Parts: sequence; C-alpha cells; structure tokens
Amino acid sequence: MSHVKLPKNRESFWHQTKDLSKYPELNKDLNVDIAVVGGGISGIMTAYELAKTDQSVALFEARELLYGTTGFTTAKLSAQHNLIFDELIKRYDLEKARLYYEANMQGVENIVAIAGREKIDCDLKKQSAYVYTQHESEKENIKKEARAYERLEIKGELTETMPVDIDITQAIVMHDQYEFHPVAFLAGLVKQLEKMNVKIYEQTTINKIQDGDPVKLRTNAGHTIRCKQTVCATQYPVHEPEKMYASKFEPEISFALACEIEEDFPGGMYISCDNPKRTFRAMRVNGKEYFLVGGESHQIGDGFSDEERYKNILKFAQETFTVKNVLAHWSSHDLITKDRIPMIGILHPDEKNVYVITGFSKWGLANGAIGAEVLSDLMQGNKNRYSEMFDPHRNIPDLKEEKEKESSTNYHKSIHKEKVEALENREAIILEDEEGKIGVYKDDSGNLHALDTACTHLGCDVEWNDGDKTWDCPCHGSRFHATGDVLAGPATEPLGHVEKIMRSGFLKR
Ligand SMILES: Cc1cc2nc3c(=O)[nH]c(=O)nc-3n(C[C@H](O)[C@H](O)[C@H](O)COP(=O)(O)OP(=O)(O)OC[C@H]3O[C@@H](n4cnc5c(N)ncnc54)[C@H](O)[C@@H]3O)c2cc1C
Ligand code: FES
Repeated sequence: MSHVKLPKNRESFWHQTKDLSKYPELNKDLNVDIAVVGGGISGIMTAYELAKTDQSVALFEARELLYGTTGFTTAKLSAQHNLIFDELIKRYDLEKARLYYEANMQGVENIVAIAGREKIDCDLKKQSAYVYTQHESEKENIKKEARAYERLEIKGELTETMPVDIDITQAIVMHDQYEFHPVAFLAGLVKQLEKMNVKIYEQTTINKIQDGDPVKLRTNAGHTIRCKQTVCATQYPVHEPEKMYASKFEPEISFALACEIEEDFPGGMYISCDNPKRTFRAMRVNGKEYFLVGGESHQIGDGFSDEERYKNILKFAQETFTVKNVLAHWSSHDLITKDRIPMIGILHPDEKNVYVITGFSKWGLANGAIGAEVLSDLMQGNKNRYSEMFDPHRNIPDLKEEKEKESSTNYHKSIHKEKVEALENREAIILEDEEGKIGVYKDDSGNLHALDTACTHLGCDVEWNDGDKTWDCPCHGSRFHATGDVLAGPATEPLGHVEKIMRSGFLKR
C-alpha cells in the first residue's frame, strides 16, 4: 500500500490529457460590443452565448484559459450538489428549490446539446450520482433530502447499496447526470468561439472597469477596452464598487488525485456528506479508464498541512481500490455563497452595463452553463425565469464578521532567525514581529524570498500551503506562487517583496 507516491509537481490530470491553444496578449486599445473577463467555464460559455447574437465579443484571461478552477474540477455535470434541496426548501420554499433543480438540469442539457451540435469529443457519459454517508448521524439528513426529491419530483431515491463496494449507512441517488472531460469540452468550445469571430486574449489582466457609455476596461499593460457591456467571470469580481462582494463569499479549497487502479470502475459518481468529504468517479481519456478521487474541502488558510490532506485522500483511494500509481494531484478553490446559490446578474444596481457570474459554491459546471444563458438574456433585455433566483443582490446574511473572527484565530507565533536557517528547500515560514508579518520561502536553489503577507487584493494575510507550495488568501481566495506571482485572483498584483532580513533574528521591512 505505502509504496505508491504522490508525483512531485502539482498538475491537473485534465491539463495532462488535453493540449490547449495559446492566444496573444492584448497589445493595443480595443473597441468591441461585449468584453467578457475570465477564461473559465463561466467566461467561455458566456462568450459563446453572446457570440450567437450579432454583437462582437472579446474574451480576456489574466493567465491561460482554463487554468483557473475549471481546469482543476472533478467535473461532475450534475444537479446533485451534495445535500442541498432540503436546505433550499427550508431557506426559501418549494418553488425556489424546484427552480434550482430545473436550472441545473437545463445547464446539464445545454452542455450535452452543445457537445453534440459542435461535435466536441469530451468523454461525455450519462451516470447516476450518489451522495452517501458512512455514519449513523448523517442518515437522517439523507432521508430528509430524499423527502425533498419526492416533493420536487426529482428522478432519484434512497438506497442502502451502491455500485462501488464501500460500507455505507445510507445513500441517495439522482439519475441521468453526466461526467465529462471539462478541459476537452471547453477547449472545443473555444475553437468554436474562434469560428464565431470572438477575439481571445491571454496574459491580459483587467485591473479596472468603469461603467459608462462606453464602459472602459483597463489592462495591467495600460491598454483600454471600450465596450457597450462587460461581464466579470473572474470568480471574485475584478471590479467591486463599495467593496460589496467582500462579505458575500467564503473561499473553500479542495484536493484531487488521478490514479490508475487494478479494478474496473463499476460506474456512478460519488460524494460523501461526511467530514472529511470524499468525492470520486472514473475518468475516461482516449479509451482508457482512470480513477479520480478528491475531498478534504476546507476554508482556505485554516493552518492544517495540505500535504497531509493529499495523503489522506490517497489512503482512502487505497482502502477502496488497488491503486497502482498516482498520475497527478492538484487543488483548487471555489467561492461559497451563504445560500449556496451562485450570483449571476447586474454587478452593482447603479451600473447597468457591468455583469457578474460567480459564487458557484463548488458546483459551477451545470450552474455555469445555465448562468451563461441567464446573462445572455439579461444583457439583451430578455426575461429569464432563473434570473431572480441568481440575483447577486438578493438578501443573504452578511458573513464579514465571522470571517474577521476566523482570520484572527489563524495568527502565527513569532519566529526567530534559526527557524529561517532551518528551512529546507521548497519550504516556507511566516515570521511575525511588532511591525507585522513576512512570509519567507526557500526555493530549489536555496535562495530566500521574503514576501509581504498582505494580500494585494484587500490586505488580508495570506497563509502558506505546504502541499501546493503556494500562498493562499483566506478572505476571497487569491493564490500566489511561492515567490509571490499571482496564480488566482481577485488579486492582480504579486505579493510585495521585502528587502531585508534583519540580523537580530526577527524580520524587518
Ligand atoms: C476541487 C474542485 C472540484 C470541483 N468539482 C466540481 C464538480 O464535480 N462539478 C461542478 O459542477 N463543479 C465543481 N467544482 C466547481 C467548479 O469547478 C467551479 O465552480 C467552476 O469551475 C468555476 O468556473 P469559473 O469560470 O467561474 O472560474 P475559473 O475557472 O476560476 O475562471 C476564472 C478565470 O478568471 C481569470 N481571472 C481572474 N482575475 C482576472 C482578471 N483580473 N483579468 C482577467 N482574468 C482574470 C482567472 O485566471 C481564471 O482563469 C469543483 C471545484 C473544485 C475546486
Ligand atoms: S483575496 Fe481578497 S484580501 Fe486576499
């Protein structure tokens, strides 16, 4: 069992198994009807829906397309979002819970239809989706979800057995869901965008949006994009008047492994409602089958070792199947809203030409597909039956106070110079003195990189992620390379470099 090792580098299996085209950086000013910012599923699908109208569309990505959360998902294309329908009925009512189910089933159907229409080969396969528990204490929650299924006439039921042979106390199944290769699907859709004359730019960070006629977007390189309407599909919105989104989400990170196993996978897609969570399915690539397993979701920056989390997932995989080897391991984060319903619509009530699509709460594939359709309707002045449910300005309790309390408990102890000297290569430490905190990373060659831990978005302190060797921000999910470069927004600027390490043993700016 123990001889199986994690690969050295963090890389998504989806990227390993699908080549992506490269697109240029924007190197001049541009005029276009619609500017979509963000090259994940929500941006790409929104660009696709809008390109079907007679308007000109451009898509802007800060780094490379599909290297945000979408390239690191488990890719269950499903309306089964763990246990949610009983909660939605209780929080809202039967009607809203039904709308959420219907919206997501429509999202699933949209992707299936597009893959067929555009002839995109993306290993799309119909599957039943299961939520299970291995504990007596969670049984009742699954039963409540089953009653919600009945009331909503969802195709599914309670079950005590599953195709995968693990001990469970209860499970619920939803039929007619899908698995697919998300990067293959979206890479195919991007090719289609090219045919529809959508202009696509990578390495183009948008750092400012100004509503008006025209709307003006500014890039990090200083170029201006003028358009009639724009969409922020950047997870945390790149444009945030009155900082109104700062309290709307909690970023949560999850981990995944791609393995080769001895056994044939029996079919189905699985997630537990236990803590720690486990999620798994098969992946089929070029006719070969692999095992995708993930879990260990938690709020970014909670201080526990991420390396241990990968090992825990591997242990679960080994207890469930005979794991021959691990081909890839990766992690990513998503933004969780208070009611677990995404935020899709006008970004700010006073800015009529700026739209947002975010807050997928770990279920952004079906939601992203239907969200793109909702936005396209809203932007063209058409009615959409789901728009009210997704309205970013619906009444949701403020999370800000809780967040500040939690962040402050993640405070690190003062650390002396010896600890810096004791650092191994590819390790980091956070040092604190009376002037504040500094993150120190020792790279492969033994060089030290001293960084300001203040996130360049809104200043929360980043935490070291020892599994992925990244600095992660607990507030809104920004992630930075060990040496400070931005890996994931909302931050658009790297962490500040601190010039000196003081000889007395503490760090000094
Ligand atoms: C481990 C894991 C497993 C998951 N499994 C599932 C699943 O099985 N099923 C499911 O439905 N959902 C799942 N999800 C959730 C789903 O993957 C996400 O909700 C979805 O991919 C989010 O897509 P997005 O386009 O909004 O964001 P992203 O894919 O993150 O795209 C946003 C893009 O915006 C770019 N960007 C950011 N700032 C700027 C800027 N200033 N200028 C230009 N570009 C910028 C980023 O670089 C990024 O490429 C999972 C999530 C995780 C973390
Ligand atoms: S992501 Fe907002 S403060 Fe760091």
